[in-house]
Parts: sequence; C-alpha cells; structure tokens
Amino acid sequence: MDSQTTPTGEPLLSVRNLSTTFSTETGLVQAVRNVSWELYPGEILGVVGESGSGKSVTMASIMGVVPKPAGKVSGDSVMFEGRDLLKLPPREMRKIRGREITMIFQDPMTAFNPVKTIGHQIAEAIRVHDRRVSRKAARARSIELLASVGVPSPEARYSQFPHEYSGGMRQRAMIAMAIANGPKLIIADEPTTALDVTIQAQVLDVLKLIQAETGAATILITHDLGLISEMSDRVLVMYAGKVVESSDVFSVFGNPQHPYTLGLLASLPRIDTRLDSLLSIPGQPPSLTSPPPGCAFHPRCELSRGRSECWTAEPPLVQIAGPTDHTTACHFFTEMDTEAGRVSAMLGVDVRSKAES
Ligand SMILES: Nc1ncnc2c1ncn2[C@@H]1O[C@H](COP(=O)(O)OP(=O)(O)O)[C@@H](O)[C@H]1O
Ligand SMILES: [Mg+2]
Repeated sequence: MDSQTTPTGEPLLSVRNLSTTFSTETGLVQAVRNVSWELYPGEILGVVGESGSGKSVTMASIMGVVPKPAGKVSGDSVMFEGRDLLKLPPREMRKIRGREITMIFQDPMTAFNPVKTIGHQIAEAIRVHDRRVSRKAARARSIELLASVGVPSPEARYSQFPHEYSGGMRQRAMIAMAIANGPKLIIADEPTTALDVTIQAQVLDVLKLIQAETGAATILITHDLGLISEMSDRVLVMYAGKVVESSDVFSVFGNPQHPYTLGLLASLPRIDTRLDSLLSIPGQPPSLTSPPPGCAFHPRCELSRGRSECWTAEPPLVQIAGPTDHTTACHFFTEMDTEAGRVSAMLGVDVRSKAES
C-alpha cells in the first residue's frame, strides 16, 4: 500500500466508541476508553503503546473473548464486513474466530495443545471450519502450510509435539495455523516478544511474506516502535486505554503530533545514536482504576506545565490540517510543529543524565 496517502474505500473493520471495563477487588478498571478507528483491507495496522495501555483488551473485545463476568464490553459498533461483532450471537462469533479473523499470540505454547502434534492441530483447525475436508486432505494442506512458513522437513515436523519445536519454529507453526482458513484479518499480538532478536527478525519476515501473499489485513500489536516502523502502513498510538494519535507510518514517525508519541520515538534505538543515550519517558502510565482527569498523559507531559486545560478538559481526537489522515488528542499539538515545541515537549525526558554520562 502507498502509505503516503489516506486509504480509500470501505474499511474492513470499523470500531465505534468501544469501551471495556473489568470489575476487580480494587475497583473498576477502565481498560479501553471510548476508542474509534478503522482498518482497511490489505493493510498492516501497527498498534503501539506501553504495557497496560489497552492494546490486547481492545483486540479481545473485538474478538468477543473478554473474560466474563468481570469484563464488560460496550460501544456503538464494531463493523466487520457488514456485521456488527458487538451484536453477533456467540455461535456466529465462534464461526468468525479462527476462520475470518485469526490471532497470533506472544506465547505459542498457550495456543497449542501440548499433548497433540502440531500437524494434527493445524489439520483440525481446518476441519473444524469445514467438515467436508477429508483428514487426508487436511494433512496435506497442513504440511503445505508448514512449508510455506519455512518449517524445514514439514512432513516429519507434522508429527512432532509443540515441545519438540524451538520457539521460533513454534511461532512459524502458529502463523501457519492462523492462515489455514484464509482469514481476512490476522491479529498478531506481540508475536515475537518472547524470541531472540535474530529469530524475531526471521519470524517477522515470514509474517510479512504471508501477509503479502494472502493479502489479509493485519493488526500488529507491539510496544516496539522500531518494529512498527518496519512493518506497518498505518499506526495507532494508545495511551491509558485511548487512541492518542493515528496516521500513516511516515507521518507518525516524521511528524509526531502528540508528546507521548514523541517520547516513544525518543526511546527508539537508532543506528546513529549510542545505546546509552537512549531516552525514556519519565514516570509510569496511570492507574486505569482512576485515570487522571483531563488528558491522561498530563502528569508526564512537559507541554502541560502550568496549563490547567490539560488536567481539566479531555482533549478530543482531532484531525490535523494537511494532506494525510492524521489525528491527535493533544490540546497543544500545534506546538509540536516547531523545533522549539518539540524540544520543550521533550524536556521532561531525562536527556542530560543519560547522554552526558
Ligand atoms: N482480565 C482482566 N481483569 C482485570 N484487568 C485486566 C484484565 N485484562 C487486562 N486488564 C487490565 O486492562 C488494562 C489494559 O491491559 P492490556 O490491554 O492487556 O494492555 P496492553 O496494552 O499491554 O496489551 C491493564 O491495566 C490491565 O491490567
Ligand atoms: Mg498486550
């Protein structure tokens, strides 16, 4: 996809005012707070944000797998190819999961049954959604799938158990299972976080290749902005259960319009910087039981210093002027356009102690 332009045509997935809460002993956790966004056919949408920002819960809400009764999902709609997933009976939703929408998780050990062979499980994933496929045909297709994700000796590997696979191979097998039924949407939630860096790169190459071959739209969730920059067409930045910025990957990286995004970018390792000059956003993400009033990022934001608006009024997600579809939720985003504005937004970041030591 040409990422410089705004995607046109009908979205594949359209999320409208989605909220998810969990009732816990310490109060109501507002994990996802009124988010709206779209996913277009064939694109890779990166979802980034620190741990606990609501990325996984957003996807679980869409898939209808939020644990009940503690979890409650509400909102206007989640439209997927003309169907509102929020209103679909569980039976219909089960048909969509694993066929039209599939997931790849961080830990494939939890996705696979440890006492069944990998090949058998992929074959079953095929037959569960189409009983007309014979066992023999499902087996042949599984071996083909294992080969397509780069599992060597796929015939022999078919009969092995999950623990006989290395982490990287297991992750490839999970990708094979995820694409077994020709999904329209693949949700990859931190798919490589548990892997060594070199294996990570290999698995991501497989994911990218598979995405290009199948044309399935992909949501890639990670806290790693570097990974997003290599893989995605568009980006959603989440903070404290909300979307705070979104645009194509070039605009978000080249022209961030939210101080939080700038902070994430500053913490990104680059070839031209020494590792010890890495920056980090000071402070911690807020409690989602009692999120800060106004802008949830204000306690950590340098732009908000001395500005009551930031803690009294919640900034809406607004469209910024320009040729691309770029939104931000910051009262003072116009200051981000100047170097001085960016520097002052950054001053909360501990530059000196790390860079000078
Ligand atoms: N089952 C649950 N019960 C209570 N709180 C939960 C549950 N699942 C997630 N949360 C909370 O929801 C918030 C968002 O979590 P999550 O979506 O997993 O974040 P991440 O962006 O790291 O994927 C966190 O505060 C987390 O503790
Ligand atoms: Mg997560």
